[in-house]
Amino acid sequence: MIVGVPRENHPGERRVALTPAVLDTLKRAGFEVLVERGAGEQAGFPDSAYEAKGARLGSRDEVFAKADVVARVRAFPLRGGDARADLERLRQGQVLVGLFDALWAGPELEELAASGAMCFALDLMPRITRAQAMDALSSMATVAGYKAVILAAERLPKMFPMLMTAAGTIAPARVFVVGAGVAGLQAIATARRLGAVVEAYDVRPSVKEQVQSLGARFVELPLETVGEDASGYAREQSEEFQRRQRELMTRVVAASDVVITTASIPGRRAPLLITRAMVEGMHPGSVIVDLAAERGGNCELTRPDEVVEFRGITILGPTNLPSTVPNDASQMYARNLTAFLTHLVKDGKLNLDAEDPIVRETMLTRDGAVVHSKVRELVTAVTR
Ligand code: NAI
Repeated sequence: MIVGVPRENHPGERRVALTPAVLDTLKRAGFEVLVERGAGEQAGFPDSAYEAKGARLGSRDEVFAKADVVARVRAFPLRGGDARADLERLRQGQVLVGLFDALWAGPELEELAASGAMCFALDLMPRITRAQAMDALSSMATVAGYKAVILAAERLPKMFPMLMTAAGTIAPARVFVVGAGVAGLQAIATARRLGAVVEAYDVRPSVKEQVQSLGARFVELPLETVGEDASGYAREQSEEFQRRQRELMTRVVAASDVVITTASIPGRRAPLLITRAMVEGMHPGSVIVDLAAERGGNCELTRPDEVVEFRGITILGPTNLPSTVPNDASQMYARNLTAFLTHLVKDGKLNLDAEDPIVRETMLTRDGAVVHSKVRELVTAVTR
């Protein structure tokens, strides 16, 4: 089987789906790898590094024409760059694996399905222990959580650690992380490593211990949360809950130098947790990094991919931080993708077990139709 790796063409995307380090594993599983020339360049993987590991190089047309499996990072080919042309390049029965943003993609998915390609969305991977090695969302959230802190540190007119010097004592920065999922926990860990005093809050009470084990204080808000669903995701809280949450968080936000927000609910608009009035209560020089910017933002003033300056407070809404750390992000992504691909094949052939949740829950399109039930519901709801 041939796995093809086209160069990513989403604007600003620097990651690559497969890296030279995973090629041995793929070879052992019976895959040959065909890489578009220059595909890994922006992530620090030159063509020669792929060739040294036995991959062949080719043009974009060749990659799509010869590949049984097309491996991408941003797999939804209707958006950005020469995306339309990629849709034409797909063919019946070809497998396409990557991140589709499936819960947000909408009716355009019908066009993708019409190509006849069998699409597997890594963003729909079930959060089960067996699938941990394939969990690309967690990998990318890890990178985003780390980089959010680095961005904040770069903007903040203060240092993170407490310093006792001959010129006096420098107080540590105070960081408040809202949403302690994968990105939030990594943000906490990174801010702690830099020496900040860190506080965090999440609607899932089960994360309290994880927050504390990273050396941060869990902010207790006197609120009755509806907790998490069977897959471990937070449930959407009521508007009244969110209003109370904002009220109770106001004091913590005002006392923080940096606020990093990561709160999200799969398939829903991100909860609005920091209002303009709350930002007004912060000290000039403070920084907010809103990792929910792509989903409407946790902060009222966030503008996706813009730097908003408001009364001396900086609000950042980066939507693709993993792409700003493309080398490590690609290494992690490539390992997740490889674990998934090797799970799908047996003796060099596709071996799809319809009962396997890893196959069932990631399969997005097949034989011209959107087959994932939850995604299909969302697509139909928008089309109606
Ligand atoms: P996410 O990106 O969907 O959400 C981020 C965080 O925002 C979550 O922790 C959520 O509880 C929180 N949140 C939602 N509404 C909020 C509000 N109003 N205020 C404050 N926080 C709010 O979540 P992520 O990072 O993708 O992880 C979701 C869950 O999946 C977690 O429980 C995580 O431990 C679990 N997980 C399990 C894995 C496995 O077992 N294989 C792998 C990765 C994650």
